[in-house]
Amino acid sequence: GKQIKLKEVEGTLLQPATVDNWSQIQSFEAKPDDLLICTYPKAGTTWIQEIVDMIEQNGDVEKCQRAIIQHRHPFIEWARPPQPSETGFHHVAQVGLELLSSSNPPASTSQSPKITDLLPPSFWENNCKFLYVARNAKDCMVSYYHFQRMNHTLPDPGTWEEYFETFISGKVVWGSWFDHVKGWWEMKDRYQILFLFYEDIKRDPKHEIRKVMQFMGKNLDETVLDKIVQETSFEKMKENPMTNRSTVSKSIMDQSISSFMRKGTVGDWKNHFTVAQNERFDEIYRKKMEGTSINFCMEL
Ligand code: A3P
Repeated sequence: GKQIKLKEVEGTLLQPATVDNWSQIQSFEAKPDDLLICTYPKAGTTWIQEIVDMIEQNGDVEKCQRAIIQHRHPFIEWARPPQPSETGFHHVAQVGLELLSSSNPPASTSQSPKITDLLPPSFWENNCKFLYVARNAKDCMVSYYHFQRMNHTLPDPGTWEEYFETFISGKVVWGSWFDHVKGWWEMKDRYQILFLFYEDIKRDPKHEIRKVMQFMGKNLDETVLDKIVQETSFEKMKENPMTNRSTVSKSIMDQSISSFMRKGTVGDWKNHFTVAQNERFDEIYRKKMEGTSINFCMEL
């Protein structure tokens, strides 16, 4: 197995390179018109990134093919600030566990080790727009498991049974799915946050893409929207070298183990969870998500 040692920031495991650059990341200066894409890993980051860029480029496919998606939407946690030649927006992914604002102080710090703010404060200070995509926990777990198998910068996931425990306990990069999703869900009415679900985009892409368009303050023709729906389909993005990570070195991502664009479906968890695991998971889910109004679709 791979010997990757993750590091912790305020109780959340992160990749060593992110932690090493932490002060630089935290001092990132967002501009008021920045749009941030925030997701838990494997929730559909690449998909929403491509959708946002397609909208931004008014459906111009060639403009979206100008660079690989990781360069068009630089990840803040990789400390690669956007270049002037790139899109006018800054995009950030996978940051933001348990967001804390001054109006919501922790009752007791010793009791609340999770309360932290992983996002550079300037995003809140500038009242930036946030686009959050959530994906149901079971499919996220499955996708993350296969991602850790093929991604050599992440720890070996072990067996599926082992990974099941690892994921539930939040001992993965960006921490607990439960805390991440709950944290953003609770923040959504206090800031300019468009909260989307992977399952909704899958079921009715045009409807969700239109929401994103409106949130971005754009107005595109129906034909352009239809084109964006087509160009951001799983099949198209799987064969597109600008989105499918095929340009990433095999020593970082070995797609012969598992494709980055793996299945792109809702409900693949049914091919992985045993009946016993499913019952146990549902029980844990109920406890961890108690009091939250969020509702996930588990199959289409
Ligand atoms: P699976 O492993 O279930 O196939 P992220 O970009 O956050 O790392 O998420 C990756 C997941 O999103 C993968 O899930 C990938 O296949 C899926 N995905 C990427 N593009 C997609 C698209 N256009 N439609 C549906 N799913 C997509």
